Amino acid sequence: MEALIAAEDIRQRVERMAREIAEAYQGRSVTVVGILNGCLLFMADLIRRIDLPLRVAFITASSYRGDATSPGKLLIRDELLPDLAGKHVLLLDDILDTGQTLARVVSHLLGKGAESVKVAVLLRKIGRQEVPFEPDFLGFTIPDKFVVGYGLDYNDEYRHLPFIGVLPVKT
Ligand code: IMP
Ligand code: MG
Repeated sequence: MEALIAAEDIRQRVERMAREIAEAYQGRSVTVVGILNGCLLFMADLIRRIDLPLRVAFITASSYRGDATSPGKLLIRDELLPDLAGKHVLLLDDILDTGQTLARVVSHLLGKGAESVKVAVLLRKIGRQEVPFEPDFLGFTIPDKFVVGYGLDYNDEYRHLPFIGVLPVKT
């Protein structure tokens, strides 16, 4: 599979994003909440570069999609979350596509009493957004193609790839 974004470019961007995040929080402690499973590689690489006191937590959001691109019903599971009352939360996801997932999870976390919720996403797809939503930190803007690797999957495959590639269309 050909790389759309090379591993080294991801590394450099994630390193810079970690500095942007540390600057934005100015030494305050932050609870980094990753949306499973897509956050896996992004979170592991990002948090080890963030120079702030921080805690790590996870939430699950699965949309039952009929196929790779059509959004379905979103199921949020939060039994792994610690108490977020009064906490500054930094929410991480792999990709901002329609925006349904992030919009829903942000309001869910605010409902749990978080003092603030900021969002960092690695990728944002052009021309797909259905819900008004602006991430606070964004890695790369990509064309409207189905991508895999660096946490992103197709049927739970390909998450382990160190780069981001466009899934070849089977003919
Ligand atoms: P949204 O709710 O439409 O913004 O969808 C976000 C979720 O859809 C992401 O967390 C991914 O799990 C999945 N997704 C959207 N586009 C892609 C893609 O190109 N490759 C892999 N997963 C994707
Ligand atoms: Mg996914």
